[in-house]
Amino acid sequence: MTSKTEKLLSVLKLQPVVPVLIVEDAATAVPLAKALVAGGLKAIEITMRTPAALEAVRLVAQEVEGAVSGAGTILNPAHFEAAVKAGAEFIVSPGTTKELLDTAAASPVPLLPGAATASEVMALRAAGYDVLKFFPAEQAGGAAYLKSLSSPLAGTMFCPTGGISLKNAKDYLSLPNVVCVGGSWVAPKELVAAGDWAGITKLAAEAAALSG
Ligand code: 3PG
Repeated sequence: MTSKTEKLLSVLKLQPVVPVLIVEDAATAVPLAKALVAGGLKAIEITMRTPAALEAVRLVAQEVEGAVSGAGTILNPAHFEAAVKAGAEFIVSPGTTKELLDTAAASPVPLLPGAATASEVMALRAAGYDVLKFFPAEQAGGAAYLKSLSSPLAGTMFCPTGGISLKNAKDYLSLPNVVCVGGSWVAPKELVAAGDWAGITKLAAEAAALSG
């Protein structure tokens, strides 16, 4: 296992659930991340889907003690480099391209690349990746599908993301090939818009208490 994979695993093992955030207003990033960390969720994935995302990565990295600021929905080398410059400590992508893998190979910051089929997993294993995002988890076949990959593709660990909630998270967390899950349910946009940080800490604490 490479040191970058070890670094990634140590981040993913901080908690059973990695919050996946779509930050519309950078001003909410710090209180939101503080609320998640207070509930026990330290590694936070901020998706590059809004104009505020890079600033949010930067603010969380600089201002939130105990948080590990990560960037998700990284689709190309430009996204990757901008996120790292902003302070991202881990990078998440829904799938891969050769260009993205080349950029990741040249960076000290670990990439959690997405895969949904045996062939995609095999290609990423050949490129040196032992820890992958299984995306979109529920829509691609759910926990039963991922379980069926565990024997033929033993040695590859996953962070399933997509359609996961408090209700089905345990189905994944109990699998031998799952290190953690990802999900947006811990930061509902209504609570963020209302500034209900205590409500988010409560959701985070419920998620942090999950186990397989
Ligand atoms: C996403 O694509 O937004 C992430 O995979 C999170 O999915 P979710 O909103 O279903 O948790």
